Amino acid sequence: MNIQVYKNYEAMSLAAANLLAAQVRLKPTSVLGLATGSTPIGLYRELIRQHQTADLDFSRVRTVNLDEYLGLAPDNPQSYHYFMREQLFSGINLQPENCHFPDGCAADFDQETDRYDQLCRELGIDLQILGIGRNGHIAFNEPADTFPVPTHVVDLTPSTIEANRRFFERAEDVPRKAITMGLGAIMSARRILLLAAGEEKAEAISYLKQGKADPQVPATILLLHTNVTCLVDEAAASRL
Ligand code: PGA
Repeated sequence: MNIQVYKNYEAMSLAAANLLAAQVRLKPTSVLGLATGSTPIGLYRELIRQHQTADLDFSRVRTVNLDEYLGLAPDNPQSYHYFMREQLFSGINLQPENCHFPDGCAADFDQETDRYDQLCRELGIDLQILGIGRNGHIAFNEPADTFPVPTHVVDLTPSTIEANRRFFERAEDVPRKAITMGLGAIMSARRILLLAAGEEKAEAISYLKQGKADPQVPATILLLHTNVTCLVDEAAASRL
């Protein structure tokens, strides 16, 4: 795995944005897999800047997001739909009909998970952005005895619920379940950028150096992918 260490969060975000911008310029119809969370915010800010000042054009780009909380509608300020609108979509020229999410309010989750996997297959993800959880999760693929392959509904682990607590006013408001793209669709992406910043990610990142795919650290499945670039700041690299 190609691991690139940057001095700080800003440098890491700029490098990630430049890779993503190059992808879009080389293939204006690119399918981008997008992530939520604190980590990609700097990357999204830089993409907005490049859209506004350097003609980076998203008009023909399609996007698939990794996950959504169960029971949160797209207009709920805590939903990932809302996050993406606030942090990226409102600042660039993506067409709303080209932005896809798993539906956290689906009437039938069996159908919804199948629909999302089929959509990802049909679109074909060119470049997937990933963050990583403190417990090594990617999207909401939590540590387990086996790697979860299809899109699925997941019970979030106590450590993930605790990490998400900072975005909610009251602990009891933090959703306990989510619908997440599985590792099958993620691994089908042609290229993957994994981003991590901060000391609290150092342990999870250190497992990527051990060379063994272990479902208790879901991100280690990326060791089996041939085109992953891991961009980290010095703090996240401190245990490499
Ligand atoms: P974060 O979350 O970017 O907010 O740290 C990443 C993740 O849990 O996947």
